[in-house]
Amino acid sequence: MAACVNSRWIGAIVIACVICPVLCSNILILPGSPLGNLYITVSRFGELLATRGHNVTVLINDLYYQRFAGLIKQQRTFMNFEEYKSGFNEFPDAYNLVTKSAHTAPSIFETLRVFDALADETEAFIQDSNTIERLNASNFDLILANVFNPGYALIVGTLRVPFVVISTTRALPVVDDLLHGLTSNPAYVPAVLTGYSDVMTFPQRLSNTFVYLVSAAMFEFVVLKPFKSIQQRYNIRPEISYRSLGGNSELVLFCSDFAFDYPRPMMPHAIYIGSLTARTPYPLSQVSYVKM
Ligand SMILES: *[C@@H]1O[C@H](CO)[C@@H](O)[C@H](O)[C@H]1NC(C)=O
Ligand SMILES: *[C@@H]1O[C@H](CO)[C@@H](O)[C@H](O)[C@H]1NC(C)=O
Repeated sequence: MAACVNSRWIGAIVIACVICPVLCSNILILPGSPLGNLYITVSRFGELLATRGHNVTVLINDLYYQRFAGLIKQQRTFMNFEEYKSGFNEFPDAYNLVTKSAHTAPSIFETLRVFDALADETEAFIQDSNTIERLNASNFDLILANVFNPGYALIVGTLRVPFVVISTTRALPVVDDLLHGLTSNPAYVPAVLTGYSDVMTFPQRLSNTFVYLVSAAMFEFVVLKPFKSIQQRYNIRPEISYRSLGGNSELVLFCSDFAFDYPRPMMPHAIYIGSLTARTPYPLSQVSYVKM
């Protein structure tokens, strides 16, 4: 009897070891905009998920081919692509604005124009009912969204799917705090562009607090304005505020490391994942050594 029970147990253990559970999810990636090299970092998540057997779809528009045609061609072999027309090809200035601006530090007015262009790009998607219907019918389990274009909130609000947001930078005081419900303290977390460190004198803390308040007002009333107006015009979850629309994510992933940031409090749903998107380095060839 004991031998029989033992062999049953051993059999169960062997079966448990041999059969691995396969959970293939349907995942949609919103890489944001073809600005700078954001696409390379964000689509890397798609590559990593696809190699683990998930069904990954990436939402892009016509502007992507002008920058990343080679990479997209390669990725088509293991990921699906959904495309919509941004309408920017008829306006070269707008195209330059959304694709080139990440190369140089833009002025505040240029930055605001970039956000206007990002809102236009998102609106072009919202107007494309065929693509929305197709995506809606795909019943995605999860959306991974690049937070750089705040328009992601309108897309997740339309499709109503649980989502995770990715930031390709460190956790920015004020901006990420407001959008993702994180907290930072102006007493020791310096605002962006102040040049302060975490050790501030009393006047510096006062000015840091002032910059927090001004940036929060700019973010809420200027940067998010074109996106809020799209939310109203297309009646996308009018019952909740724009910040709640974008802030209801399951997780916030920062492609950075705690070691590179100022000491700051962090919420449990925000995770530093720096280096996850790095590719395996290739060894240098003999020729490269000689050239160096
Ligand atoms: C998505 O599909 C569901 C039914 O499956 C429908 O109720 C909903 O209105 C659709 N949403 C959009 C944005 O088309
Ligand atoms: C993968 O996703 C695409 C696009 O949403 C869909 O058309 C396809 O049927 C999915 N494949 C599987 C195996 O679920």
